[in-house]
Amino acid sequence: MKLLNCSNAGAAGFGNRGRKRLYLVTFGCQMNEYDSQRIAQVLQEKYTLTSDADNADLILINTCSIREKAENKVYSLVGRFKKFKRQKPGLIIGIAGCVAQQEGDRLLKRLPFIDLVVGPHGIYGLPDMLRDIEKGTGPVLYTELKHDFSTPLISAPLPEPNPVQAFVTIMQGCDNFCAFCVVPYVRGREVSRPPDDILAEIRQILDEGVKEVTLLGQNVNSYGKKLNDDFSFPGLLRMVSETPGLERLRFTTSNPKDLCIDLMKCFRDLDALCEHLHLPVQSGSTTTLKRMNRHYTRDGYLATVDKLKSFCPDITLTTDLIVGFPGETDRDFEDTISLLKTVEFDQIFAFKYSPRPLTRAARFDDHIPEEIKAERLEAVFELQKEIGLSCYKSMEGRKEEILVEDTSKKNPKELRGRTRGNHVVNFPGPKELVGKFVTVKITKACYHSLRGEIYDTLKGEFQMNQG
Ligand code: 5AD
Ligand code: SF4
Repeated sequence: MKLLNCSNAGAAGFGNRGRKRLYLVTFGCQMNEYDSQRIAQVLQEKYTLTSDADNADLILINTCSIREKAENKVYSLVGRFKKFKRQKPGLIIGIAGCVAQQEGDRLLKRLPFIDLVVGPHGIYGLPDMLRDIEKGTGPVLYTELKHDFSTPLISAPLPEPNPVQAFVTIMQGCDNFCAFCVVPYVRGREVSRPPDDILAEIRQILDEGVKEVTLLGQNVNSYGKKLNDDFSFPGLLRMVSETPGLERLRFTTSNPKDLCIDLMKCFRDLDALCEHLHLPVQSGSTTTLKRMNRHYTRDGYLATVDKLKSFCPDITLTTDLIVGFPGETDRDFEDTISLLKTVEFDQIFAFKYSPRPLTRAARFDDHIPEEIKAERLEAVFELQKEIGLSCYKSMEGRKEEILVEDTSKKNPKELRGRTRGNHVVNFPGPKELVGKFVTVKITKACYHSLRGEIYDTLKGEFQMNQG
């Protein structure tokens, strides 16, 4: 669960006078984080962000339904807000995002005290919806899925302090229908955002001081397939990478079945494109991949990784995988374990399979018992602990370019930044370096991060105190 940082709402030029308070909670992926920032922006004229649910005038929960656990968190959180409504009858409570889309008016029936259910394609209409609710016309339900992607460019700065790094959506929806995945049902068909819109947003955030941009989509490799001028994702990357002021470029998520040579070459050719690829494998078993409707085999995935490394030998690879997919045998699971040993990902995001409404796999009849899923997940984590640590250990002694993102939450004298390969590095340093590039010598590997010390500042942006 994430709250948009509120301390900057005023500082970002939103001004507080006469405005109501919005308590905005975000669950789930980066797409939802991006959407929540747009929600804060479209409501900025009337609402200022608050971190205090007790005195909010509007509570919005931007939800995720990728797994049952994420969905359940929403119900327990909303339940807590019910009493606020009794204390403050004018309070508006709304549910946005994927659970809103998936459940629609069932939510209004199950939680009769809520005022608003709005799917991911409805967020730009929020000001009108809230106006209607304030007029007392009753609860509002919006679950349309649109087939175009014209996103208004909003002139207000992002409601995040110190946005060194920002996401930019380049497409919405997904046409792949992987058998386990609810995304195509809750985010609709794949639609690419026009390149000019994307560039305009990138120029705007670079003007605000952003140094690193991550392009977002469920399946970025398909970018442009349906645009009239047949614009490709590598074409978009080339165009974006030339934007003045853009220091680092990343993207997520890429489907292995569509990872073309042209895209691999971008890692070799584009200076701004960072050497990290998140390439969800989901399973190491060809049989399971087929049942998952992934359209690649284990050998195909391994060949893609080899080819990619021939263009960019130092690329960091991370992945997602699911254990206990229906019908997964011990042998299939062993294939996943052996794939992890072969590829040696720096980091993995592994999940127990969770049946989702509307999806094909939910109707399969060979579901795996929960205890076996749990055992398999544990085995994956045990193995990855070793592999990840040895990947991180291999970086000890190296000098890395770090973009400093923030001070450490635990220790204000420490800074936190990332390498181009997306490894988190913590090191002592002054807060004036936030937003700057420094060379850091890696001194110690931990499980999911590195420790280091400043070796040099880069790009003449900061004069180190020479004593
Ligand atoms: N059960 C478990 N994990 C899932 N994911 C998507 N759908 C499910 C599901 N039904 C995982 C996939 C995906 C990541 C975002 O979430 O690994 O890549
Ligand atoms: Fe879901 Fe598959 Fe689309 Fe990814 S590619 S969003 S896993 S359906």
